Amino acid sequence: MPSDPTPPMLRTLTEGGICTIIADNPARLNAYTRDMWEALPRLIREAEANPAVRVIVLRGAGTKAFSAGADISEFEGNRTGAEARRYDEINHEAFEAVGRAIKPTIAMVHGYCFGGGCELAICCDMRWASDDAVFSIPAAKLSIGYNPRWIRPMLSVVTAAKAKEMLFTGRRYSAADSLAMGLANAVVPAAELEAATRKVAEEMAINAPLSIRAAKEAVDEFAMNPENPDFARLDRFVEACFESEDYAEGRRAFMEKRKPMFRGR
Ligand code: COA
Repeated sequence: MPSDPTPPMLRTLTEGGICTIIADNPARLNAYTRDMWEALPRLIREAEANPAVRVIVLRGAGTKAFSAGADISEFEGNRTGAEARRYDEINHEAFEAVGRAIKPTIAMVHGYCFGGGCELAICCDMRWASDDAVFSIPAAKLSIGYNPRWIRPMLSVVTAAKAKEMLFTGRRYSAADSLAMGLANAVVPAAELEAATRKVAEEMAINAPLSIRAAKEAVDEFAMNPENPDFARLDRFVEACFESEDYAEGRRAFMEKRKPMFRGR
């Protein structure tokens, strides 16, 4: 007798300094259920708190889809009337948790990357995509009012004109399109996506976490607050680098002609 399919869920796998968060809902192209949105901030916080984790990778189970977005089959029950606002809040907390993660985040995008899945990928620091990736935000095809808080992260990835095109048309963008418009950092053959993503994650994982944090905070601050960036706050991240054991280790390792071993302190 076939066993019951496992319920939709998020799974994590941590190895070699990389925490991979996997959206596992294959029957619905890894669409996120409300429970999955709700679980994501906790998993991000756990990865942030775990000193063994240097980089967070988001992906979908298998290779057909990063995620086809929010699980529409649940909408009748939990995204109508008063529940729609609560759903948006839960959704927003998930995007915020990813967008504000203190460690580098990479979306590893196989196949479909639609709606909330596309937004999630946009909230990551970077996107590595397979050559069969397809990106789309079809909110206007469902008469979903797209939360303005989710348009801001789009504007730090693509131009305003492209964001409008994506939102007004709900059009599908190929991997090649996504590369040309800056949505994908890199596109590789599907069979090579895991290795390519691991390579870039490892390049970051061996570097000094405090340096990466200072750079990440600065880039995000300029995107969020271009008119009046909080330089005092940003300077503190830079000072933390200069005061760190890792900076001493970096100098020592250079003089001793060996690879540094950074600890993030
Ligand atoms: N929510 C719930 N179920 C979804 C889903 C979603 N976001 N996206 C796909 N599925 C389900 C389909 O209903 C289908 O289920 P079934 O086999 O029980 O009929 C299964 O996943 C496979 O999808 P299917 O449409 O048959 O695959 P496809 O390759 O022909 O098309 C997409 C793929 C992504 C283009 C299409 O599924 C789609 O448009 N999905 C909705 C995307 C969307 O609007 N997301 C934004 C939500 S706000």
